[in-house]
Amino acid sequence: MTYANEPLPLHPFVLFARPNVCDGRAHRSYSSACHKEVFMGRYTGKKAVVIGGTLGMGLATVKALLEEGAEVLLTGRHGKNLEAVRRELESRAHVVGSDATNMADIDALGRIVQEKLGEVDFVFINAGFSRIEPLEQVTEAAYDQTFGVNTKGAFFTVQRLAPLVRKGGSFVFTTSVADAVGYPGLSVYSGAKAALRSFAQGFAAELLPRGIRVNAVSPGFIKTPTMGVSGVSPADLAAFEQEGNAVTPMKRIGTVEEVARAVLFLGFEATFTTGVELLVDGGLTQVLVPNH
Ligand SMILES: NC(=O)c1ccc[n+]([C@@H]2O[C@H](COP(=O)([O-])OP(=O)(O)OC[C@H]3O[C@@H](n4cnc5c(N)ncnc54)[C@H](OP(=O)(O)O)[C@@H]3O)[C@@H](O)[C@H]2O)c1
Repeated sequence: MTYANEPLPLHPFVLFARPNVCDGRAHRSYSSACHKEVFMGRYTGKKAVVIGGTLGMGLATVKALLEEGAEVLLTGRHGKNLEAVRRELESRAHVVGSDATNMADIDALGRIVQEKLGEVDFVFINAGFSRIEPLEQVTEAAYDQTFGVNTKGAFFTVQRLAPLVRKGGSFVFTTSVADAVGYPGLSVYSGAKAALRSFAQGFAAELLPRGIRVNAVSPGFIKTPTMGVSGVSPADLAAFEQEGNAVTPMKRIGTVEEVARAVLFLGFEATFTTGVELLVDGGLTQVLVPNH
């Protein structure tokens, strides 16, 4: 577990996005004599945690939250990605190195979230990966890794963080279209995400009395640095992208910003929705497009 220990300054955009220039000089404090223009984003005052926020759709969600004024704590595992996100976001987010498969890290993360944010409004549990392996090649270690991050890590992260989520708050998981259909080479991943989809329903029921909603987004082909697949070459990524463009009824793969919008809809706007999985797949699993 690593943590950049410097205090988080106020995000300048939140309070001082539009400097007060009523007397010809920009003020960096409130002034009763002058008209105040204070930036109020949609999520100003909200506190969010993004598990797996250094890349791809997790990072896009972090950026969307920050742009609308939320205070965000994000996690990732690889030092290189953590450093890159620290540089990119400067001091605008709390960046924490934490392995979602490690129980000691999950427990420490709970303490850091409590110390840095106190109560939170939203937790996005996004860390995950797939490995494409035919049935006969899957080892016990590979099986455990896939379930470790996509399933076990998600379960115990919710267990640890749920006490910190305030009434009216919510969790969103990232599942996958693979949890509802069969893909050769993805049986372990599909099973891991199907369990996660089921957790969304179970946790929705368990956390209902506390007024906490739990939902999932289920992406189809989305353009991210890994396309959600571990250990693939640039040529493989290009092939996935091509396949996604061909088989998706919308004839293109999705963007991380499109996923982030769905995540934040479920996280904040969908106040009468719990236990659902929202597909963000360009119609891949819903729309049959006839061949012409
Ligand atoms: N891209 C797709 O087409 C697609 C489709 C369906 C579902 N999904 C799912 O969507 C989610 C995000 O995918 P993505 O394509 O955006 O992936 P990505 O670009 O590879 O990003 C994955 C994020 O999760 C983090 N992560 C992975 N293992 C972790 C661990 N053990 N502990 C903490 N953080 C960990 C990574 O951090 P580090 O790099 O620091 O480890 C990174 O921030 C995954 O759950 C994936 O299964 C993706």
